[in-house]
Amino acid sequence: MHEIPTLQDVLRARRVIAPFLAPTPLVRSRGVSRLLECEAHLKLETVQPVGAFKVRGGLNLLAALGPEDRARGVITASTGNHGQSIAYAARAFGVPCTIGAPEGSNPLKVAAMRELGAQVVLTGKDFDAARLWVEAEARAKGLRYVHSADEPLLIAGVGTLSLEVMEALPEAEVILVPVGAGSGACGHCIVAKAINPRVRVIGVQAARAPAVYRSWREKRLLEEPSADTLAEGLATRVPSSSPSASCGGGWTTWCWYPSGSCRRPWRACWSTGGCWPSRPGPRPWPPPSSSATGCAGAPWSSS
Ligand SMILES: Cc1ncc(COP(=O)(O)O)c(C=O)c1O
Repeated sequence: MHEIPTLQDVLRARRVIAPFLAPTPLVRSRGVSRLLECEAHLKLETVQPVGAFKVRGGLNLLAALGPEDRARGVITASTGNHGQSIAYAARAFGVPCTIGAPEGSNPLKVAAMRELGAQVVLTGKDFDAARLWVEAEARAKGLRYVHSADEPLLIAGVGTLSLEVMEALPEAEVILVPVGAGSGACGHCIVAKAINPRVRVIGVQAARAPAVYRSWREKRLLEEPSADTLAEGLATRVPSSSPSASCGGGWTTWCWYPSGSCRRPWRACWSTGGCWPSRPGPRPWPPPSSSATGCAGAPWSSS
């Protein structure tokens, strides 16, 4: 298990990624507020250049690589968003990048990773099978293996998201965070809890992909036979050590969404124009105006 990053590491990461990424909006969502019967805000990481928060961690990690690792290149396993993040950061620092993605991966995400200059190899029936290939390849070729979560620099990078949330909305009471491998949740546990120890961080996993939840509850790493969810980034079958350990004390509680039920909050977001769908691929910056994305009017107010 790697060292768990601190708030200081996250502040350092913010300085590292600032030249590459603008802070993202935190907006009140009318649809989700109505659905959850509370004041709900959405952190729109969909406007990041790869459409997901992961890019914060990728840039922080690649920026810290030494010359030897940079020359040899990095390798990682991904179903899409983490891979785009590493590919994006590798391109920014001129580092060769290989990604092992499961066979049957979302073709748009595979194309986006290739468009960012990564060599993508489709291998294995799921993320964890692809990861085993990647680990062997890293050993054989001396490449820097980038784990999708068990990496202090990745966690510190994604923790910058939590800094932005707490700055924009210091009165936040609950943070709901989707959990795949757990880097995003760890970032919130490290940052939001340090700023306001009373804030509740609630990890959300799919009922049919509960590996990290079960490991947290049993206090040991438990593999699941399968991870079945529409949300590709949450389809984790084998939990990794440091997110489970670092978040063990931080998570207040957990919830699950039953199979298929994630469509309802998606509809709540879109129907009231609260956000636009996360599409894979490089994004323009600044993001298109709401009318250009079909979100007419002023569907949400800035917090
Ligand atoms: C959009 C999105 N949300 C959540 C997650 C889960 O993040 P983590 O693996 O840090 O738990 C991912 C993972 O790739 C993702 O792409």
